[in-house]
Amino acid sequence: MSTDDGELEASLEGREEFEPPEAFVEGANVTDEGIYEEFDENWPECWAAAAELLDWYDDYDQVLDDSNEPFYEWFTDGTLNASHNCLDRHVEAGRGEEVAIRWVGEPTDEADRAITYKELRSEVNAFAASLRDLGVGEDDVVTMHMPMIPELPVAMLACARIGAPHSVVFAGFSADALATRMNAADSEYLVTADGYYRRGDPLDHLEKANDGLAGVSHEVSDVVVVDRLGDDGFGHDLADNQHDYASLVSEHEGETVEPVARDAEDMLFLMYTSGTTGEPKGVKHATGGYLSWVSWTSQTVLDVEADDTYFCTADIGWITGHSYIVYGPLALGATTVMYEGTPDFPERDRLWEIVEAYEADQFYTAPTAIRSFMKWGSEYPERHDLSSLRLLGTVGEPINPRPWKWYYQHVGGGECPVVDTWWQTETGGMMVTTLPGIRKMKPGSAGPALPGVDVRILDSAGEQVDPGEAGYLTVHKPWPGMLRTLYKNDERFVEEYWSEYSDEDAGEWVYFPEDGAGIDDEDYITVLGRVDDVMNVSGHRIGTAEVENAIVGVEGVAEAAVVGGEHETKGEAVYAYVTTEEGQEGTDDLRKRAVESVEDAIGPFARPEEVVFTPDLPKTRSGKIMRRLLEDIANDDDLGDTSTLRNPGIVEDIQQHEQATD
Ligand code: WT7
Repeated sequence: MSTDDGELEASLEGREEFEPPEAFVEGANVTDEGIYEEFDENWPECWAAAAELLDWYDDYDQVLDDSNEPFYEWFTDGTLNASHNCLDRHVEAGRGEEVAIRWVGEPTDEADRAITYKELRSEVNAFAASLRDLGVGEDDVVTMHMPMIPELPVAMLACARIGAPHSVVFAGFSADALATRMNAADSEYLVTADGYYRRGDPLDHLEKANDGLAGVSHEVSDVVVVDRLGDDGFGHDLADNQHDYASLVSEHEGETVEPVARDAEDMLFLMYTSGTTGEPKGVKHATGGYLSWVSWTSQTVLDVEADDTYFCTADIGWITGHSYIVYGPLALGATTVMYEGTPDFPERDRLWEIVEAYEADQFYTAPTAIRSFMKWGSEYPERHDLSSLRLLGTVGEPINPRPWKWYYQHVGGGECPVVDTWWQTETGGMMVTTLPGIRKMKPGSAGPALPGVDVRILDSAGEQVDPGEAGYLTVHKPWPGMLRTLYKNDERFVEEYWSEYSDEDAGEWVYFPEDGAGIDDEDYITVLGRVDDVMNVSGHRIGTAEVENAIVGVEGVAEAAVVGGEHETKGEAVYAYVTTEEGQEGTDDLRKRAVESVEDAIGPFARPEEVVFTPDLPKTRSGKIMRRLLEDIANDDDLGDTSTLRNPGIVEDIQQHEQATD
């Protein structure tokens, strides 16, 4: 996005309002509007309400320990186990025959799977026993590079059971990206799969995983491979330290592994995410606070109840899938739906077919998907009976009023509240959104901060902006689901999130998520997008520096500047401006190599939409690349003031080159 204030303001205009549908309010989990005041007055003790949703082995002493800010601790000295909370306690409560996971593979001739809580618990036990057998101990980081198959949540919960933090690397990430993350986490174990299906074809995943393993700088002790493709597989032989998942599980069938009592502050998992520098950030989440947070927000915002069937279209490889496919819904004992493939295979009504078949109560997706649905047309949802739906959700990027209203009308039939949930990998779960049974909706605005969450919009001087003005989103009180640190890098944690607006001497710690936002006179927050050098492509966070590094590594390239340009369905698309070395032409071949290098370093989802060769890059007098200007050029906007350009003529040159490549 651009940080130009006039532009920010313009995008706040023209919102309408919708009251929560009455039929929804009647059965909603939360309907007492007193909750906002109550949480304010009773903070931080109010968060006992979140911890109460869980089973604890040892009670906690203190809700919040803030003696070492900003290294906050929640539910101190409490002990619990996430796998017990997501599985055993439901079985023990007599709900073992209820379906925990409904899995839908992409091929239409393959039977869907219904995995009950009892079955899931026994497979998690068997795999936990297998991992122990392989030598995985408490606090060993186990990496998962897996597609959307049931074995992924099984592996996550098996790790949680034995106290081994998982680090899930989205299956679309490249071999290099996998290696970088395994190296950063010193992870000696990998769980992966032979492949998966995409648009009807089997896709070789193990080859990529093996390439990644070749780039790991320490010894990898064991690799577990799920055979997803069967006869469609690519015939890879397993290496000596590679084990077939099914064989391991059958060897350990019937075994029970006692869930390890984890301290509330013990790490549940790591998730790498993109930041301003090329180095991914290892976001560390703690067991007690995280699980409380995702359970409480699943209950209050997504309105999940134990007998609900809940469908989130995210990939478990990203935080949305961790929090709101796996941990939140399973902790509440609901049925969570997992779909392996793309929404338009074999036809553009695949998701609606799934909603209808399993009578989903909630549906949670991203604006990029909603924009595609809208483009495809209302005939696809109209082909199906979607009347089971009670609530709709969106996450990942700002949603414009038009797709919001389309979603509300054509998917929700005007009878489901839409929760536009703002949060991040770092926040663990939702932070800003309407409570669907209480607050009216304003399309385009996420809504007020959740009860007990203190969000303020500040200008660059640190003053709160007036309603209607734009500024920077900041969080002024800690919350249980917050990241605890960046893995093995406390310094970067403080630097990245707590240095911009905190007043250390005054003991005021302010979390800065690097988003721009506006606020209205009813405290509704409109999130405008990131203000750092991170792009949001189809809801995926991609650092411009990561893409630039990949392009600069290509022979013949001198410099690269990467920006996010507006894109109809993706939200943002990657635009790369590249200068070549002396004597090197900007050829199609060089362009191809630049694109391939990005795919190799990150993954196909980061592929540049455009690679524009230019004789120079616009820079300030101090030599900093003027991204704003490139963004404007990418968006065909007014170029603004170019007087600070070291080389003003360059702007026109770039435009001409861009036109030539259009
Ligand atoms: C960034 C976080 C939250 C899980 C998926 C993405 C943007 C997220 C919204 C929203 C406007 C949003 C922000 C945020 N974002 N939700 N409802 N409205 N923007 O997690 O990869 O950590 O990305 O996504 O810019 O900082 P993530």
